[in-house]
Amino acid sequence: MSRLVVVSNRVALPGESRAGGLAVGLLAALKERGGLWFGWSGRNAATSGELREQSDGSIRYATLDLSKADLDSYYNGFSNRALWPLLHFRLDLVDYDRSKREGYWRVNRLFAERLAPLLREDDTVWIHDYHLIPLAALLRERDIGCRIGFFLHVPMPSAELVQALPEHLSLFSTLYAFDLLGFQTRRDVGRFQSWVRLFGGGRVIDDDTITSPDGRRIRTSAFPIGIDTAHIARQAQAAVGNTAVRALRQSLQQRRLAIGVDRLDYSKGLPERFHGFERYLTRHPREKGRMTFLQIAPVSRGSVAEYRTLRGDLERIAGHINGLHAEADWTPLRYVNQNYAHRTLTGFYREAAVGLVTPLRDGMNLVAKEYVASQDPEDPGVLVLSLLAGAADELRQALLVNPHDLDGVADAIATAAGMPRAERIERWQAMMQHLREHDINRWRRDYLQALEGG
Ligand code: G6P
Repeated sequence: MSRLVVVSNRVALPGESRAGGLAVGLLAALKERGGLWFGWSGRNAATSGELREQSDGSIRYATLDLSKADLDSYYNGFSNRALWPLLHFRLDLVDYDRSKREGYWRVNRLFAERLAPLLREDDTVWIHDYHLIPLAALLRERDIGCRIGFFLHVPMPSAELVQALPEHLSLFSTLYAFDLLGFQTRRDVGRFQSWVRLFGGGRVIDDDTITSPDGRRIRTSAFPIGIDTAHIARQAQAAVGNTAVRALRQSLQQRRLAIGVDRLDYSKGLPERFHGFERYLTRHPREKGRMTFLQIAPVSRGSVAEYRTLRGDLERIAGHINGLHAEADWTPLRYVNQNYAHRTLTGFYREAAVGLVTPLRDGMNLVAKEYVASQDPEDPGVLVLSLLAGAADELRQALLVNPHDLDGVADAIATAAGMPRAERIERWQAMMQHLREHDINRWRRDYLQALEGG
């Protein structure tokens, strides 16, 4: 079996806590066959380019420091103020700037320059997400001939939206340098293929194959990412006695809990969710006082202007809702920016009768899956899930809502709160079976098999 090289902007270095589900899945793959994880060191240094190396068992880590100027243009600027909004269908928020775009290419070139000497001919290289779109093309320029795959964790928007990004052709046609392009859902594959046909100068051969303008065959397939289902189910069960979970339960005073957990990001539809919850209070007045909504939203990308604006908006909306609806002994909305250990979150999910996952656009959304996996099989809660999240393609037994339809969200919360136990169990079992069969290990095995066997 060839060595696996994982490349991503963020690297889950040993000893750094809070490795998410994806990191756990990738680490398992790296451990199994030995490998290298390459990416940004997480440091903001005086100059870019210092390579830090460390090992943990059979896994080697090589990470690069980046300067403030490079981070400003590559990460904050082009990745998170141009690509992120574009890929989440938010052309209105795209802030394109040539110098930021140049910084993005400069850092990708630096990645290629430092990674190329570490690669062997028979390595399998797996590159992740929108920060590193041109990396395979830049490695090929350095005569790297090994198999290279890409996985896009976020949505692929329609071709017309991509067309609005200046220089979209030179950026997205670098994807032709990969051997396999993985997307979260079939619809993402379809939208990429339509870009190839309409603007990319390539040809679509079948659902899973395209050719580049110079005739290179590239596989394009959907690999919906999963979670470590069995582990999360065990963790949630064990977390019932956790101090923070017990304190939450006691504080509810027998009221039902609805929960949302999201990075503080405009793609997550948090203002709409807050308004949807308020609409539930006004459309279903008899329910008033019976449910508390806990929204956990750790601050994310705090140096990007749109994220700071969102934070201010949410504080205002939360204050407004509580000011209008709270009573002396009940606060309807608890809005918390603090982050919690993953184990604690699974305990919180298990406490919650309703899981609110209503992004305006999401590649997959793993909170939806983790909420389901954390439930008590005898008394599961109900997931209210946005139709516009990739997870909605799989979790068909959730209460699917359009997050822009506040009345619809409000009624779904009421339906979830009143759903009889037998129906909750039936819906949960179907979703849980799917999550057991399609977990994170299957995801990475399917992907690597397609990359290496195809
Ligand atoms: C999304 C992206 C990831 C990213 C994560 C956290 O899930 O797909 O690539 O790592 O958000 O964002 P951050 O900017 O903090 O890495």
